[in-house]
Amino acid sequence: MKHDDEIRGRFLDLALLRRFVPLLRPYRRGAITGFALLPAISLVRTLEPLCLQRAIDNSLLPGRLDLLWPIAALLIALLLAEAVLVFSQSWCVQVVGQRVMADLRRDSFAKLSRLPQRWFDWQPSGRLVTRLTNDVEQVGDLFGSGIVSAFGDVLTMVLVLSVMLSLHVGLTLVAFAVAPLLLGVLLLLRRPMRSLMRRLRAQTAGLNGFVGERVNGMAEVQIFGQEQSSAEQFEALQQDYLSAALSWVRWETLFYASVHLFGSLAVAAIIWQGGAQVLGSHISFGTLVAFIEYARKFFMPLTELAAKFSVLQTSNAALERIFALLDEREEAAGMLSLPSGPGRVAFEAVHFAYQPSEPVVRGLSLEVAGGECVALVGETGCGKTTLAQLLLGFYRPDSGRVLVNGIEVQQLTRESLSAQLGWVAQEPFLFHGSIRQNLDADGRYRNDQLWAALERSGARTLVERLGGLDVAAIDSRGRNLSSGERQLLSLARALVKQPQVLILDEATSHLDSDSERRIYQALQGLSGQCTRLLIIHHLALAARLADRILVLHRGQLCEQGSHQQLLAQGGRYARLWAIQTLQQDREKGNA
Ligand SMILES: Nc1ncnc2c1ncn2[C@@H]1O[C@H](COP(=O)(O)OP(=O)(O)OP(=O)(O)O)[C@@H](O)[C@H]1O
Ligand SMILES: [Mg+2]
Repeated sequence: MKHDDEIRGRFLDLALLRRFVPLLRPYRRGAITGFALLPAISLVRTLEPLCLQRAIDNSLLPGRLDLLWPIAALLIALLLAEAVLVFSQSWCVQVVGQRVMADLRRDSFAKLSRLPQRWFDWQPSGRLVTRLTNDVEQVGDLFGSGIVSAFGDVLTMVLVLSVMLSLHVGLTLVAFAVAPLLLGVLLLLRRPMRSLMRRLRAQTAGLNGFVGERVNGMAEVQIFGQEQSSAEQFEALQQDYLSAALSWVRWETLFYASVHLFGSLAVAAIIWQGGAQVLGSHISFGTLVAFIEYARKFFMPLTELAAKFSVLQTSNAALERIFALLDEREEAAGMLSLPSGPGRVAFEAVHFAYQPSEPVVRGLSLEVAGGECVALVGETGCGKTTLAQLLLGFYRPDSGRVLVNGIEVQQLTRESLSAQLGWVAQEPFLFHGSIRQNLDADGRYRNDQLWAALERSGARTLVERLGGLDVAAIDSRGRNLSSGERQLLSLARALVKQPQVLILDEATSHLDSDSERRIYQALQGLSGQCTRLLIIHHLALAARLADRILVLHRGQLCEQGSHQQLLAQGGRYARLWAIQTLQQDREKGNA
């Protein structure tokens, strides 16, 4: 699969432009004004040297001071007009650029929340952050300092060239004798500069990714003594970046210096040839001065334009990446709602693999009756969490069906899924903010409902200690809470919805046995209202709580029944049980 970061922008990409222009539609007044002011700016800029010419030829040289004032006044008026026009034009364009950026960021973020989990499995989060920040910023440049000002630069150059030709064809040709050379240099520099720009981008992404990962795992870095090796890896990455950045500086300076040099050469050629013409009285001195000014006015936008070449290219690549994100295939959301009552769950011959070569669920079928409490046990990595994720609709089975109340999970509306399926993840994630924001982001529940859920999950005292529902008590990812406290709060978050199906994935693994016992007692109170799927390693607990135990082995259901039935079968469950009880007996003996 081609990685998005390999997308290489082109200087002018009409297909992309066609898709970009409609983004401007809501701000068309600003955009059109920004464009419309450009000819006026170019015109004013072209008129200024003509004023200078008149001032010299008609007033300064003949010694007519009386004629100088009106021309000087006109020149000042032109300069003022230029300032006002440039300000207004730039304001319009920048405002439009910022607004388009805000829209793109909003759309991209909204898109992310609609993409399937499978997509996130292979997306490093650092790249996605880059997409919403750097890339969007570059698209802002595309409009702000890209297309619009490129258009203005070309317009100015065309106007300047026409005036120069109308003043003196010969001298114009002299001034532009250097143009082919300049063009050659620009073409020569273009390729290395473009590949450097790409290298820089890739290295920035690499550096960001590395820093992000190490910051998250700083405790591991410190305790496993990886400071030195981390620093070395970072240094290697940053040396690569530095060498690319230095090459970039070298080429960029060379680029500006050569454009400058050719501009000065053109002026020198004008003075040399034009000076002779003035002395031979073929042209006026004012015309010569105007020519020098025009040459400057021509080469300045040319430099800008050449510099913009790379801006346009990277902006186009960024835009292409953003469009690629916006075009990512969403899994069509279902249209059906769950009928009320505790949910019946069924897996019918489900096959599933995260990677095609490694099947995780292999032809699994099972049924859970409405209101039943089922424990799912099996050794590490056998696919328990995967089954939960399939039931939650995060992944789509490769074949077979996953049903709740007879409706395929994929056919349920998002609202139905999120309202009727409660889930406590194996590694629960809490967001920065208050308890209320974590339990009830949309403000759907009353305080007494929230407290009831907290009571049931055993988190009431914790929340009281933290200062209540509305204190911003939770740090990013819930890092200021213990793992057990995170589990209690995420259990409350699942319970407050009063879901039809409740899936607890090792949801009490971090709790002390007393808290664990109290929670499961509370959950037994839900019997008949809600179907419970408990993923549990602790078999004694499973035996006590569950109406039925399902034993999973390598993605297949190998045994099922009550604790006693399974023990009597003498199969895998009986062996697992024997190992666990033996272990516990040993521990007791040691104690
Ligand atoms: N996002 C993923 N991408 C690729 N492979 C995955 C992914 N998640 C899980 N796996 C693989 O799928 C298999 C089953 O994982 P799963 O998380 O379902 O196991 P589990 O039974 O919940 O284990 P545990 O008891 O340790 O929680 C494992 O071999 C794991 O490596
Ligand atoms: Mg698991």
